[in-house]
Amino acid sequence: MTAKIIDGKAVAAEIRAEITVEVKAIKEKTGKTPGLAVVLVGDDPASKIYVGNKEKQAKEAGFNSYNIILPQEISEAELLEKIDSLNKNPDIHGMIVQLPLPKHIKESAVINAVDPKKDADGFHIENVGKLNTGQDGLVPCTPLGCMILLKKNLGDISGKNALVIGRSNIVGKPMAALLLRESATVTIAHSKTKNLPELCKTADIIIAAIGKPNFVKAEWIKPGAALIDVGINRVDSKLCGDIDFATTSKVAGFITPVPGGVGPMTIACLLGNTLKAFRKSLNI
Ligand code: GUN
Repeated sequence: MTAKIIDGKAVAAEIRAEITVEVKAIKEKTGKTPGLAVVLVGDDPASKIYVGNKEKQAKEAGFNSYNIILPQEISEAELLEKIDSLNKNPDIHGMIVQLPLPKHIKESAVINAVDPKKDADGFHIENVGKLNTGQDGLVPCTPLGCMILLKKNLGDISGKNALVIGRSNIVGKPMAALLLRESATVTIAHSKTKNLPELCKTADIIIAAIGKPNFVKAEWIKPGAALIDVGINRVDSKLCGDIDFATTSKVAGFITPVPGGVGPMTIACLLGNTLKAFRKSLNI
């Protein structure tokens, strides 16, 4: 079997095109423009690239984009004050604080300082609670992007065995919640899991988000399975995922490439979340 390659770059471009049309229509009707604020603390080179891409794509979709770059040494109290001013700013409808943060700042304090209505990352405890109890809220962008790709390619996933490898708050846990919401049978594996190859062998869907280059092997894969690779690893200056693409793509039914798979979906979903928050603020 040779897997169908899931073109996340193309799907993300379609979503951004739809968002652009919607933003234009709302602007014409109400005179209002959605605003996205991206807060970056420090000058981590990888984070700077992500933040630059978010700003570029937000502007292309017709959003007002505000990049707020703060020094590495900023205190937690000063950062919380900045977030509070963005919460109060009526021109800002969506906000994210790029992670990771410097060690002296408590991540949970920052995440929960963001107004849950503007929480375009879906990381605030209120949105986490809503996701886990089936209420409508803002959903983390990377898992949401994975779910869109899965549903577009597999259709109904109810009753399928889904294995999430990784238990982070950003990807693994919300991914599991989204799969459960679609009635998949969900297993979460992590660094202490003992029988990963066997768990993989029974999975119809594998979502890998562990940050270990080419970790998931072809021998572990059930023929025809759908493989969603969230990993972005640099090996010898080339990017690769957490799943060994060259070999697993000969066994799987569907696979996302790295780059060009899940990555572009994250920003498309960030814009989607900001548009959702903007609409809600206008009651439309
Ligand atoms: N760092 C890595 N992924 C993300 C993300 O989705 N949102 C934020 N805010 N920071 C990240």
